[in-house]
Amino acid sequence: MRAIGIVAALEMEIAELLGLMQADVVRHRIGRRDYYTGSLLGCPCVIVLARVGKVAAAATTVTLIREFGVASVVFTGVAGAISRHVNVGDVVVAQSLLQHDLDARPLFPRYEVPLLGLSHFDADPDLTRRLSSCATEYLRQDLAADGPARAQLSAQFGITRPAVHGGMIISGDSFINDAQHVEALRTSLPDALCVEMEGAAVAQVCHEYDVPYAVMRTISDRADGSAGIDFNAFLQAAASRYATGILRRFLVLQRERDAA
Ligand code: ADE
Repeated sequence: MRAIGIVAALEMEIAELLGLMQADVVRHRIGRRDYYTGSLLGCPCVIVLARVGKVAAAATTVTLIREFGVASVVFTGVAGAISRHVNVGDVVVAQSLLQHDLDARPLFPRYEVPLLGLSHFDADPDLTRRLSSCATEYLRQDLAADGPARAQLSAQFGITRPAVHGGMIISGDSFINDAQHVEALRTSLPDALCVEMEGAAVAQVCHEYDVPYAVMRTISDRADGSAGIDFNAFLQAAASRYATGILRRFLVLQRERDAA
């Protein structure tokens, strides 16, 4: 059975996932990255850190596809909110992804990927539906039942009712931390829900190799330089906890589908 490629944006997510991997895990060092193969909750998986930025994430994804022949790619991490309806602690599952810093005008229209003729990439609808319902169930059931986790999220970060959103994730090679920049992105890309630095690159590579993919992000900030949170504490308390919990549900369902 071909493996699922799990690309994580955070070291902490990798550590938690490796903790769940069975004893058969093998580390492969390629292009200064560590790819871990083994079974995760009964599913063959390859786990890897994306590294930061579009080039790094694209290179990681090519290796996953060419060296490991993964059947699909699931990408997790954090993002800054762009839409006013998206809050810190929410989860965004991508329906489409776009590179907000790609501009080859006047040769090609703004955002269009030259020679592909596309300005955005649609995530695989089936994987996305499944990931999204696992995210909803995770927040509604698992997190809701975890009193200490909820108390920590509420006391430390003011997160009381985290929600799941589906829509456009935009990616670019800069960390956005400026209210004017957020406003400009809202004006030029009114459908954008959140911004990060890798997702659209993973999407482009998967599109080029016809590999189905899904992308989910936990919102860590408002991208506008407003009151900062303790980022590391957030990664532990929310982002990597969510990612592990959501992937756990996703992989259990996958194992059932594979067995059927
Ligand atoms: N990842 C998390 N927050 C981000 C932001 N504000 N800009 C870009 N990438 C991010």
